[in-house]
Amino acid sequence: MNSFTENSISAKFAKYLSKLPIPQKPSSLYDPVKYILELGGKRVRPQLVLLGCGLAGGNPEKAIPAAAAVELLHNFTLIHDDIMDGATSRRGKPTVHSRWDEATAILSGDVMFTLAFEELYYYNELNGFAPSIFPELHKLFAEAARIVCEGQAKDLDFEAMLEVTKDEYIDMISQKTAALLKASLQMGGVIAGAGQENIQQLGTIGMNAGIAFQIQDDLLDAIANPDTFGKRKGGDIYEGKKTILTILALERATSEEKSKIISILQNPNCTETDVEYVVDMFDKLGVISDTQKNIKNLYINALQALESFSDSPFKDSIKELLDKLKTRQT
Ligand code: IPE
Ligand code: IPE
Ligand code: MG
Ligand code: MG
Ligand code: MG
Repeated sequence: MNSFTENSISAKFAKYLSKLPIPQKPSSLYDPVKYILELGGKRVRPQLVLLGCGLAGGNPEKAIPAAAAVELLHNFTLIHDDIMDGATSRRGKPTVHSRWDEATAILSGDVMFTLAFEELYYYNELNGFAPSIFPELHKLFAEAARIVCEGQAKDLDFEAMLEVTKDEYIDMISQKTAALLKASLQMGGVIAGAGQENIQQLGTIGMNAGIAFQIQDDLLDAIANPDTFGKRKGGDIYEGKKTILTILALERATSEEKSKIISILQNPNCTETDVEYVVDMFDKLGVISDTQKNIKNLYINALQALESFSDSPFKDSIKELLDKLKTRQT
C-alpha cells in the first residue's frame, strides 16, 4: 500500500462515516450524535482497525464498518465521560451535555452504542464472511466495551482515594483506554482471518500504544495549549484525577508540598492559581520529563511487537501513525 492507497482508504472511511444512515428524528436524540461525529477528532481507533486488517494480510476496505463501529463506541464513551468528568469543552467545542443537557447526552450516547453494534451486522455470511467472523468480532467488541466501563469506574473511584499506586493507575488506563486500541487492531486482524499468534501480537501493539496514549493524554491535560488540545487546561487537576503525574509528584514532594498538592486535588473549587502550582510542581519534580520518557518506551515496546509482522506498506503506515502519536499535541 503506498501513501496514495492509504489515503484512499482513510478517505473511504471518512466518506462512509459521514454517510452513516443516522435517522433525522427524534432530533433531540440524533442531533447530538451528528454533532459529536462532525467534530471529528483524530480517528486513531478506526485507523488501527483498517491498518490492523492490512497488516494481517486482509483487504482494509472490508474493515470499514468495523472501524465505524469502533469510532461510534469511542464517541459514545466520550459523551458519557464528559458528564462524568464535568468537562465543558471537547475538540475545541462545547461538550454534548453542556450544549444540550445531561439527560440528552446520556441517551444520545446510548444510541451511539447501539448504532455501533448495528455496524457489526455487516460481517455475516450473506456478505461473504466466514461464519466465525461475526461472533469473534462481537466478542472482542463487547468485551472491550465492558473493560472500558470497568476502567472508567476505577477512574472515578480513584478521585476519592488519596493513595493510588502506579500499578493501579496503569491497570486503570489499560482498561479505560488501551483495551479499545487493542481491540481495534485485533478486530482488523479477525477480519483479515489472522491466526492466534498474530492476533496476540496485534493485542500487544495496541496495549502498549494505548497505555502510552492515555499517559500522554494525562500529560497534555496539564501542559498542552488548550486551544489546540481542545479541552480545559488542567481539567484533571480540577477534578482530582489520579494520573501518573500526580502519583509521581506525591512520591517526590516534601511533606509540605505534598499536603498542598493533596488539598488542591481534593478541593472541588480550586483556582487557576492552584492548578498552576500543581503543574509547576510536576515540572520542578522532574515528573514531566520522566513521563515523556515513559511514553517513548511504551511506543518502543509497541514497535517491537510490530516487528513480528513481515514488511509491508501497512506496517510502515502503523509505524508512521505511532510516530505521529508519540509527538502529538492534540
Ligand atoms: C480521548 O481520545 C479519550 C482518551 C482515551 C484519552 P482521543 O484523544 O482519541 O479523542 P479524539 O477522538 O481524537 O477527539
Ligand atoms: C477517557 O479518559 C477515557 C474514555 C473516554 C474511556 P479521559 O477522561 O482522560 O479522556 P478526556 O481527556 O476527557 O478525553
Ligand atoms: Mg474526560
Ligand atoms: Mg475521564
Ligand atoms: Mg484526559
